[in-house]
Amino acid sequence: MSGPLHPKATEISFVLNNGVRMPALGLGTANPPAEIGRTKQAVKAAIKAGYRHIDTAWAYGTEPFVGEAIKELTEEGVIKREDVFITSKVWPVLWDDVERSLNESLDSLGVEYIDLLLQHWPVCYAKQEDPHGINGLSRNPETSNGEPNYEVSGDWLETYLQMERIYLDPSDERVRSIGVSNFPEKYLERTLLECAVKPAVNQVEMHPRLPQLALKKYCRAHNVLLEAYSPFGSHNAPNVHIPLVKDLAEKYKVSPSVILNSYHIRQGSVVASRSLNMMRIASNIEFAPLSKEDLDNLDQLGVAQPERFVNEKWNAIVPGFTGKGPSI
Ligand SMILES: NC(=O)c1ccc[n+]([C@@H]2O[C@H](COP(=O)([O-])OP(=O)(O)OC[C@H]3O[C@@H](n4cnc5c(N)ncnc54)[C@H](OP(=O)(O)O)[C@@H]3O)[C@@H](O)[C@H]2O)c1
Repeated sequence: MSGPLHPKATEISFVLNNGVRMPALGLGTANPPAEIGRTKQAVKAAIKAGYRHIDTAWAYGTEPFVGEAIKELTEEGVIKREDVFITSKVWPVLWDDVERSLNESLDSLGVEYIDLLLQHWPVCYAKQEDPHGINGLSRNPETSNGEPNYEVSGDWLETYLQMERIYLDPSDERVRSIGVSNFPEKYLERTLLECAVKPAVNQVEMHPRLPQLALKKYCRAHNVLLEAYSPFGSHNAPNVHIPLVKDLAEKYKVSPSVILNSYHIRQGSVVASRSLNMMRIASNIEFAPLSKEDLDNLDQLGVAQPERFVNEKWNAIVPGFTGKGPSI
């Protein structure tokens, strides 16, 4: 961790296992479909407030708005492309066509490279055309009985293998780092065994109600940086109402959301949190230097009954994803 003595969360960064520096706090952009048009203003406000890391994905439909924001800010002279760390992800419908996913993300974002490309899930979906989907493909293809339409003969490792081929090609500068998302230990274990490039990052749902203690230990031991998503508990931010989080907010004179972001950064993890509210975007950049005791107490909240807020239909086929909650 590096930065001044009493830094803002946006001034802290971590070095990935390939030497690339990643800002500790990212602005998430998995905005509700009806509100994706507000993403541009949110990204502009965030960058003006000091954020230097934006988390997006092929599947969010927000890449064009992130791209417009970055273009306008570069034209206004606020930033240069290289000042902002951009993460994007390969969705399971393009599990065997990373080339297409990457090119569409680059086109939508209007940039020449992505700082971190993640395999979004260890899942293979069938490709189904859908004019209302993402770039003509259904985001969540279904069979005629309404079940998820998996590519049953597919191997989820194929996605990462294609990503590493692109990353390792010395003539290809489109991706600075590669990693994974939603990988439990067993999936990481296979990736480490069978792939040449160690994932730089594993982005997973993580917060005091889902502290991921075993995964934290595993990732630390293997030098894979863990990144938390849904730190506030996703829609409507249920975690800001946890009594211990509210007590710590009073103790450190910050908002509960700052406690929830700082919980990760203080433990050496990156965190991506989302807001479309300009005031919250600006205030979420504060940082609370939580003590070891505070961190241990927060870690204990979800140990007995872990709670997951982000659930996709395939949770049943990825061991470890069994919680109940809304899907994003
Ligand atoms: N890899 C994956 O599979 C995956 C899955 C989920 C998410 N993600 C990434 O992680 C990011 C964050 O997760 P998330 O979008 O699920 O949700 P989140 O960041 O946990 O929570 C977002 C919610 O918190 C509210 N909020 C923000 N600041 C607040 C504050 N200071 N006080 C009270 N409420 C506040 C937001 O409402 P307002 O907009 O009204 O402020 C919104 O309803 C995503 O946007 C995405 O980039 C990745």
